[in-house]
Amino acid sequence: MMNDEVTIDPWGSSQSTDYSRIIEQFGLSSMDSVSITDPSRLHRRGIVFAHRELDMILEAKRLSNPFGVLTGLMPSGSMHMGHSMVIDQVNWFQQQGGDVTIAVADLESTATRGISLAEGRRIATEEYVSYYAALGLDPEKTNVYFQSERNIVQRLGFQLGKRTNLSEFEAIYGFDGATNLAHVQAPLVQAGDILHPQLEEYGGLRPIVVPVGVDQDPHLRLTRGLAAKTNWFNVSNAKMGLQIGVSVQEENSVIMGVESNGRVNKERQKEVFAKIVNAISNLGFSDIISNPKHGTVHIPSATPRDKGSLRMALLSLERSMGGMGLLAPSSTYHRFAVGMTGDKMSSSKPKTTLFLSDDAATAEKKIKKSFSGGQATVEEHRRLGGNPDKDVAYQYMMYFFEEDDAFLAEINEGYRSGKILAGEMKQMCIERATEWLTNLSEKKDETSHLVANFFE
Ligand code: TRP
Repeated sequence: MMNDEVTIDPWGSSQSTDYSRIIEQFGLSSMDSVSITDPSRLHRRGIVFAHRELDMILEAKRLSNPFGVLTGLMPSGSMHMGHSMVIDQVNWFQQQGGDVTIAVADLESTATRGISLAEGRRIATEEYVSYYAALGLDPEKTNVYFQSERNIVQRLGFQLGKRTNLSEFEAIYGFDGATNLAHVQAPLVQAGDILHPQLEEYGGLRPIVVPVGVDQDPHLRLTRGLAAKTNWFNVSNAKMGLQIGVSVQEENSVIMGVESNGRVNKERQKEVFAKIVNAISNLGFSDIISNPKHGTVHIPSATPRDKGSLRMALLSLERSMGGMGLLAPSSTYHRFAVGMTGDKMSSSKPKTTLFLSDDAATAEKKIKKSFSGGQATVEEHRRLGGNPDKDVAYQYMMYFFEEDDAFLAEINEGYRSGKILAGEMKQMCIERATEWLTNLSEKKDETSHLVANFFE
């Protein structure tokens, strides 16, 4: 890999925060050009900064079509503020009408962290799901499952493994000959996690969005590629409009009219193309040009905005013909909140983060010691001003504790101009954090009877 490239390692301890480079290098779309009608705190503040094909979800919502949200948790350690950010997003999608599925990656944590399945179950329930209830997820519209218990997820992972190879894993994850094979299996099972909600028994074909920290993007790139490779039909840009192509594969060649000796069965091929035309006939195009000889169906009047509905219609067709009909997942990416010490937030280093279970006294101690964006002396601070972009207390108010945008802008300005001192910023953060954590702990008690419902 070239030295000036950003690397993203889902298991690594370092993290690039050069977000515009990340967008560019990995082909993410910026959130800047997305208009959201009812934005959450994380959207308004640019914390959710990028996405892949979020339009599939927004379009489904606009048309009142179903869509789903999927995320996963690694049962190890305790839930901290960074984890709560994902749940904030899940919450928002749930309020927008999405159904929610959450994978407990107990297979991944047993293989990569040495945590037994029984222990993983305890951690998931006590340290994570009980806080999901407290954070407001609706147990009636949320299903939490264990990887080890959902066969279909493992089976999908296995089946999809056929569509990739070690070279691709090397390219995506930087694996080499010494890589533990658990790290090869985990992403395949995770692809199973991400894709299975669209199977018939889990709600059927619909767009699924995966809100994640940007460290998980390699998994999404892999999963999107795997889904695309299974697809029997694909939609691409034509000189004019869009065109549909056919992907003949081992599994479907006979159905597609290619016999085992390689000869093309013209009748069968014609039937397939008639099916394609029929599948898209009620989408309102006036010009559908079927060309079985070239293996394409051309729609000159279609625009890129039509891609979504064409893909959905073709995936339904594929399913009716016996294929898996998997839609590549959409995703959103959030920035990482800094650790309290100014380094990466990590559950294995308690000083770097607030845990949802921290009491007021612990939170106060951590915030008092947190990395400050202030100047060395009061005199200098008054004269030069502080840096809220580096100040952990300010950052935690922005990411987690302060709902009021106007107030936040006010203290940002006050800090920058030197009017507000570092100690005062910390004091404000302590007050907000204490209130937030106390409230959460009360909610946790009130909602404890709901926890079991998340697993049904
Ligand atoms: N690998 C994720 C982590 O380390 C957990 C996970 C498992 C996950 N399956 C997922 C995340 C599906 C998002 C989507 O935290």
